[in-house]
Amino acid sequence: MELGLVTSNAGKVHELAAVLEPLGHEVTQRELGYPEVQAPTLEAVVEFGLEWLAQHHPDEALLIDDAGLFVDALGGFPGVYSRHAWDTIGPAGVLALLGNGEERSAEFRCVLGLLLPDGVHQLFHGSCRGSITRVPRGDGGFGYDPIFIPKGDERTFAELPLAEKNGVSHRGRALAELVEYLGTSG
Ligand code: IMP
Repeated sequence: MELGLVTSNAGKVHELAAVLEPLGHEVTQRELGYPEVQAPTLEAVVEFGLEWLAQHHPDEALLIDDAGLFVDALGGFPGVYSRHAWDTIGPAGVLALLGNGEERSAEFRCVLGLLLPDGVHQLFHGSCRGSITRVPRGDGGFGYDPIFIPKGDERTFAELPLAEKNGVSHRGRALAELVEYLGTSG
């Protein structure tokens, strides 16, 4: 199936394609400019986006990916504000907020939204526990990858080869749910 990922982030397209293309699904980047609302949950952002896409692009199979980094010691910040935090304080600002604090646990979360031409909307979830580094490390991936170490590893997401990141990441886990759904829905 041809799936259009509605995003301006080529890193996300790369990660989805690495999982979906070997299974016979073509992933294309679509920059449709849907309104990304500020909402209290990733789910609400994705639901709103899917409804807008269903009205404006009803004949396409489309995906939305909304993700965030939830830092425990910061009460879950930046969380749903991860994009805004990236544009303003950046990863260095998140590190500065944590200072030298010992408590550095965090969670990446991803919600994928699928819209099919028959109007079906479906959400898929994935999360990944881990911790925040003291300094950024690695040059792979994108976004906050250089400051996040998934639980059970010592490398940051930015130091992992793509297949390894997808194997443990929030997006990889949401993708596994999507793959199962696509397999069972024919
Ligand atoms: P978005 O709203 O889903 O595009 O993402 C919010 C922020 O989190 C953006 O600054 C992204 O770069 C960042 N982000 C999303 N997914 C990831 C990821 O897998 N690794 C690192 N940063 C991410």
